[in-house]
Amino acid sequence: MTSGGSVLALYPPPAQERPLAGLYLDHDVRRLGHARAPFVYTNFIVSLDGRIALPRPSGNGMGVPRSIANPRDWRLFQELAVQADVIVTSSGHLRETAAGRVRELVEVYDKAEFRDITDWRGERGLSPYPDYAVMSRDLDFPIAPRLLSDGRRVIVATTAAADPVRMRALEEAGAEVFLAGEEDVAGSRFIDGLAGRGYGIIYSAAGPRVHHTLLADGVIDRLYLTTANRLLGGEVYDPLVSGSLLGGGVSMTPASLCLDLGALDGAGQLLAMYERDT
Ligand SMILES: NC(=O)c1ccc[n+]([C@@H]2O[C@H](COP(=O)([O-])OP(=O)(O)OC[C@H]3O[C@@H](n4cnc5c(N)ncnc54)[C@H](OP(=O)(O)O)[C@@H]3O)[C@@H](O)[C@H]2O)c1
Repeated sequence: MTSGGSVLALYPPPAQERPLAGLYLDHDVRRLGHARAPFVYTNFIVSLDGRIALPRPSGNGMGVPRSIANPRDWRLFQELAVQADVIVTSSGHLRETAAGRVRELVEVYDKAEFRDITDWRGERGLSPYPDYAVMSRDLDFPIAPRLLSDGRRVIVATTAAADPVRMRALEEAGAEVFLAGEEDVAGSRFIDGLAGRGYGIIYSAAGPRVHHTLLADGVIDRLYLTTANRLLGGEVYDPLVSGSLLGGGVSMTPASLCLDLGALDGAGQLLAMYERDT
């Protein structure tokens, strides 16, 4: 099934059917932050056994497992992405983008079925695309020229230990580079640096290491989590968070939960949204 049809909204009660389309546009995260107090949200799809990425069948690195990726989750990804001022991605994703191996993170202009999502952004007077931001120690990635089209900016946060030659090369390619840590980028310095550049609504679409960096500094406000009702197995995989123990753990309070039986040939998925305990 595609991204039409309904989901069963289970929480908060009362349970009711509602259209999938618009589910996350209605959250209107733009009301929740501004550059002086940025709002940071992230989004993952995960298998029932906790995999967010597996080795690609082509042998080319890791990717979202094809057996859980689906158009209904992708639509919700788009609904979240268009609400952002800036999308946090990863060096790996920028390499894949430059090599033409992955699609644009914001795909709304390419598909008629996303017209309402495009309109949502247009009606708010926003530029067509959010900008991109990335954190990196190695700075070993190119900037695909199309990421700088339509007035978009690419912001790179790195460390004092980073290679100055690579830093300059990225600047010459059009990126704006700033330091946000000594050996590692610190999550709070990263977000402060983005806020200082005027970004108030920050969507992290990066993977488990960036997620860890942001969680470790307590700067994630909201987690959108699609749990695909499939177990995948496999010895090599990426989990939702990757890095050292997070102290006593980071508590996230469930704020909404929907059951979507339209995905994955009827196996379905749970669409949850969690907010950070304050
Ligand atoms: N299922 C899902 O919803 C989902 C969502 C996102 C990603 N994924 C998948 O997960 C896999 C891994 O994701 P990813 O590589 O995009 O993201 P990632 O693992 O979060 O990012 C890794 C890179 O981010 C940089 N980094 C992270 N923390 C840093 C810090 N504190 N300081 C400096 N640099 C830091 C490093 O870049 P450098 O190496 O350049 O130093 C590191 O290699 C991919 O296959 C992706 O497709 C799945």
